[in-house]
Amino acid sequence: MSLPTSSHSPNNATPTKPVSIALIGAGSIGKRHLAALKASTRCRLVAIADNNPASAQVAQHEAVPFFDHYDSLLQTIKPDGVIVATPTEHHLQPTVAALQASVHVLVEKPVMATLDEAQQVINLSTETGYSVLVGHHRRYYERVEKAKAIIEDGTIGQLVAVVGQWTMRKHDDYYDSAWRRQWQAGPILTNLIHDMDSLRYLCGEVSEVVARANNQVLGHEKEDTAAAIITFASGVLGTFLLSDQTASPWSWERATGENAAFPATAQNAVKFMGTKGSLEFPNLTLWHHDGTPADWLHPMQSMHIATELEDAYIKQVDHFADVILGRAEPRASAVDATETLKATLAVLESSQHAQPVRLSGRPL
Ligand SMILES: NC(=O)c1ccc[n+]([C@@H]2O[C@H](COP(=O)([O-])OP(=O)(O)OC[C@H]3O[C@@H](n4cnc5c(N)ncnc54)[C@H](O)[C@@H]3O)[C@@H](O)[C@H]2O)c1
Repeated sequence: MSLPTSSHSPNNATPTKPVSIALIGAGSIGKRHLAALKASTRCRLVAIADNNPASAQVAQHEAVPFFDHYDSLLQTIKPDGVIVATPTEHHLQPTVAALQASVHVLVEKPVMATLDEAQQVINLSTETGYSVLVGHHRRYYERVEKAKAIIEDGTIGQLVAVVGQWTMRKHDDYYDSAWRRQWQAGPILTNLIHDMDSLRYLCGEVSEVVARANNQVLGHEKEDTAAAIITFASGVLGTFLLSDQTASPWSWERATGENAAFPATAQNAVKFMGTKGSLEFPNLTLWHHDGTPADWLHPMQSMHIATELEDAYIKQVDHFADVILGRAEPRASAVDATETLKATLAVLESSQHAQPVRLSGRPL
């Protein structure tokens, strides 16, 4: 997971002065970023751009200038960084415009809609020296780091397998916007990408995916449901079930209560299994043998490991400030997030062609 660029602080940002941030795309996640910016002492919102004139009200409420095009914002305001929170198929243009204007970028996940677009952004970031941080916000939670430590320090022995699910039912008017019915906004690219990023972070690189998907409930271009068998380069085998048309208590959001809009159930959605024990995730429950041989003849104990539910968006935007100031490399860089995109798109590709998709050593 290599990290690119940014070793300088080009826009006169100083440690004492908050960095100036503009928001491009003031829709649902854009408003979440606005709340994080408001709570952060490291960043200051300076402008909003959105091609929907109705978003001018949001800018008015935040008391910052509004632009109906990101180009005029970039020319007029020259912020230290921008947050790109436009629909996935419109991540490329504002990201390119910002990098060309010597502005660092925090772009929402997925990094881009396609691998070609992601490669363009990686190249441009390298050429310009301006950073791209990708909004894989789950990486900022303590529970993810604790799970990584438990898996890597041998507490559950050799990691053998993982099984996970993200099974929710989105409200019917979620799909009123036409872009949300297209393949780029289906649950694979919108939701699975989060879990795929966590799986890569916790289990290592993905080497092969076999998947099936269908759209039998809604019949839109985007899929409703997908099932994937994931082989990791380490040899770990995993399965993942995804649907945005199932009323169920099992998903990251329902488990953690991260977003008040999705009432919590506290039910874990992912299980990591090793030769000595297992870990339920994301509300960490460790299953282990207490001094007895770790086999099916002996009882297992469970232990809950408490974690805080931090505001990952504030931590993310504070990290963006560090990236802008040259104090940190992006925690989820464009290169890293492109590997997550590659593994996620493999689920789509495998389901479309009914073929396994191999990723190891695969060029972009
Ligand atoms: N990190 C997360 O958990 C998370 C959650 C939701 C969405 N997202 C991602 O955020 C992105 C946006 O999703 P959303 O649900 O907020 O969408 P949305 O439709 O609610 O908001 C998108 C906003 O962008 C504006 N917009 C569209 N095209 C534009 C353009 N060319 N220039 C400027 N503004 C433009 C729209 O007018 C709208 O205000 C998607 O890529 C999605 O995958 C991430």
